[in-house]
Order: sequence, then C-alpha cells, then structure tokens
Amino acid sequence: MIYPERFSNLPEYAFPRLRALLDSHEPGGPVTPMSIGEPRHPMPEFLAEVLAANLHSFAKYPVNEGTPALLGAITDWVQRRYGVRVGPERIMALNGTREGLFNIALALCPEDKRGARPVVLTPNPFYQVYAVAALAVGAEPQFIPATAATGHLPDYAALPPALLDRVALAYVCSPANPQGAVASRAYWAELLALAEKHDFRIVADECYSEIWRDAPPPGLLEVAVQTGADPERVLVVHSLSKRSNLPGLRSGFVAGGPESIRRLRQLRAYAGAPLPEPLQAVAAAVWADEAHVAENRALYQEKYRIADEVLAGVPGYSGPAAGFFLWLPVADGEAATLKLWRETGVRALPGAYLSRDTEYGNPGHGFIRAAMVAGATEFRDGLTRLRDCLYA
Ligand SMILES: Cc1ncc(COP(=O)(O)O)c(C=O)c1O
Repeated sequence: MIYPERFSNLPEYAFPRLRALLDSHEPGGPVTPMSIGEPRHPMPEFLAEVLAANLHSFAKYPVNEGTPALLGAITDWVQRRYGVRVGPERIMALNGTREGLFNIALALCPEDKRGARPVVLTPNPFYQVYAVAALAVGAEPQFIPATAATGHLPDYAALPPALLDRVALAYVCSPANPQGAVASRAYWAELLALAEKHDFRIVADECYSEIWRDAPPPGLLEVAVQTGADPERVLVVHSLSKRSNLPGLRSGFVAGGPESIRRLRQLRAYAGAPLPEPLQAVAAAVWADEAHVAENRALYQEKYRIADEVLAGVPGYSGPAAGFFLWLPVADGEAATLKLWRETGVRALPGAYLSRDTEYGNPGHGFIRAAMVAGATEFRDGLTRLRDCLYA
C-alpha cells in the first residue's frame, strides 16, 4: 500500500498525545479538566424551540453557502459588532471554523508563488489546522515565533523580504489560542500593508473574539474597511463554538472579498458538507442574540479575576487579555503536566503539543495551557491546586 508523504511527519494530535502521557497514571485528586478548550457554560435557552420549528428542513439538501436568513443574521452581527457592512455575497457559512481554516487554503492557495513553492505562515504556537492546511495544498508551512518578545503574536514584518514574496497565506489568531493576546488596530493595519506589498492573503482566526477582559478586540474586517485595504486580502473566520457555547452545533462563517468567497463557494459546491438547514436556522437565531453572549462573557471575566488572584506572584504569570486559556510558564511543559495530574488530578496540556521545533527552539516547551472552562468554584479550586503543585 502507498500513502501520501505529505502528512507522514505530522505529530500525533494533541489530545491522543495527552492521553498517552497521562492515562496510565492515577489522578492524584479530584479530576479537573483544563486541557481541552471545550466550553462548559450553558447553551442559549431558545435552541430547542427554533430547532423544533425547523425540523422539516432535514428532508432537504441544505443550501451550500448558507440560507439567506443565516447570511443576513451574520451580516447584521458583523455590522453591530464591527460597525462595517459586509454583504451576504461576502460571507459563507461553515461547519465551525476548523474546516473553514482548512478549506480556505484548498480554495485559495496557489500552486506556486512567483515560480517557487508557496509559503504559508503560521504563528508558533498555533491552532494545528493551519499547518495541515498548508501541507494539504503542497505549500511550505513556516512556524513564526509568537512569544513574549513579540507580544505573543507573530512578527511577520520582521521576516526576510525574499521569504515574504513567497507567502501565499498568513494565518493569525486573535484573540490568540493559547496565549490570549489581542491584535491591535495597528497590528492589523501593518499586516494589511505587508500583505499588499508582498501580495499575500491574511487568514484571521477570530473565534475567541467575544470572550474578552476589558474591551472588545478589534477585528481584521473593520480595520480592512477603515484603511481601504483590498477586500480580497482578508479572510476572517468566526464561530458559535466559543461565543455561544455551541461547539457541537458546528457552526461558523468566513467573510472575505467577493472573489475569494465565490471561489470558496464553488469548491464547496463540489466537495463541501453544508450545515443542515435546521441547524442553520438555529445558528441564525443565535447570531441575532447578544444577551446570552454578554452573560457568557461575564462568567469568563469572573474567572480572569480568580486567575489573577490565585496566580498573583507566580513568576512570569500574566493574565490573558481575551480568550479562555492560561498560558503558564514552567520549566518543562510535559513534565509539569504529568506531575500536576499525578499529584492533583488537574488535567492541563503541555505547551509543546501546540507548537513546533524550529531552529530558534520550541516556544511552547516551557509552558502549559490551562483552559478556564470549568465553573468558577471548580476552576478556583483546580487552579489553587495547580499553583500549589507547580509554583509553591
Ligand atoms: C484558535 C482556534 N481556532 C479554531 C477553532 C475551531 O473551532 P470550531 O471549529 O469549533 O469553530 C478552535 C477550537 O478550539 C480554536 O481554538
């Protein structure tokens, strides 16, 4: 049998790797899940009613790009949230952002760039689909450090111009998983100028945009409009998974330039798996409601305060500006995760499971990631045990 070479060097995915690390050891206390970014706050209450009213649509093949009602609800949400109007022809419904982040590369990454193999830039550490998308299209992923030294976002402008000329796509995650950093308006504006200069597209993963500490993170869409950037430079993905605690709904969207969206829609007309229409109806209702989002955010804001209180004085701790992860410095992330599990039952994730070895080292090696997904009481208790175990 033959198999494709291009995925042969992929490391095992983070969660099977974590199971292999921990599951042969007994937890040393009450099991407290902090490894996976799966929201555990309540879902919006009105789902069942909307779903019931739309069950009949399971009898139809769903609309590929999104129903008019869903695209309209998303257009309105973008306008409310970012103050810019992006018409329905510039939006496509997704089954959650992960597949969109992958399919954007399939639809839009060229076979070569200026006669050479195209480069796809990803921050390091990063959400793993960016690298797999690059490999799937035969591009070369380049892992660019997103560390304290660069404000926890990749400094793409510092790369050599010859490399930038080969870039086809540049992924950025803001608010960043795992570090919780937020790209400022200036960051986005500079990146847009760089993309124009070197002729590449920016793929902004903004799925944590609604979970923030003090102020709503600026989005690439609004900055692109405000700076008069070419809309085709920009692909922005959003999700209901974190905003509305609906990771199982598998619903998100991508917004971009009309031609990019046309190409994405075309590819997906052939090969996509559209969201079932009853679920599109649910998604439309969820995008239209902000009350549950504000309540959800308030629960995370309480946990930011708990984290600041419990971890005050931990060397190198700085609370996230947004998102729901703590990115905590340790000597060796894998050893710390194992010790934490064996001594306390708290289940975190080694930072290096989210990052790659490069010639400048592995920027996740000296970290663990802890997800703030448990309820406040369980979270405070787990975090206190974590602190006493790793930082006493
Ligand atoms: C940074 C980032 N992007 C994208 C996703 C995918 O989310 P979904 O496909 O549920 O929208 C996740 C999920 O954890 C994530 O952390």
